[in-house]
Amino acid sequence: MILAKADAVVRGLVGEILARFERRGYTILGLKLMHVTQDQAKRHYAEHDGKPFFPGLVDYITATPIVAMVIEGEDAIEGCRATIGATNPIKATPGTIRGDYGQTIGRNLAHGSDSPESAQREVAIFFNDQELFPRAHVLGDWIS
Ligand code: TYD
Ligand code: MG
Repeated sequence: MILAKADAVVRGLVGEILARFERRGYTILGLKLMHVTQDQAKRHYAEHDGKPFFPGLVDYITATPIVAMVIEGEDAIEGCRATIGATNPIKATPGTIRGDYGQTIGRNLAHGSDSPESAQREVAIFFNDQELFPRAHVLGDWIS
């Protein structure tokens, strides 16, 4: 699961971010602009609860609506993390989302699930079943 976080929305970079996943050929199975509640934010980032940056992180992804996206494709988790780039934009390679648009770790634009288990857990926090489309439904008869 991908999030275009508050700074991406405020800076008008959502299109740039989505385009990179589309261009890699991933299939979008769910996509929405949504307000993240404090509860959703805390559950999403539960692994970081107690760390010094946790309160700021929760404030950051609840500050404005964010764009949440479920995408599918071959090795999508690894591919999406590579497209997003290293957590700290200073370390992120130019050509990645964070490497091209980010300056600081606290405003690093995008989230990508780090494992199939995380993806499954996170999708359930942000989407209900009616908001997700099976691949065959999305692609229809256009692409086999
Ligand atoms: P993490 O899961 O380690 O990174 P990633 O987003 O690449 O999976 O951390 C979650 C978010 O927490 C990260 O995107 C930005 C924020 N963060 C900080 O603000 N300071 C830090 O020192 C770390 C490690 C993360
Ligand atoms: Mg992470």
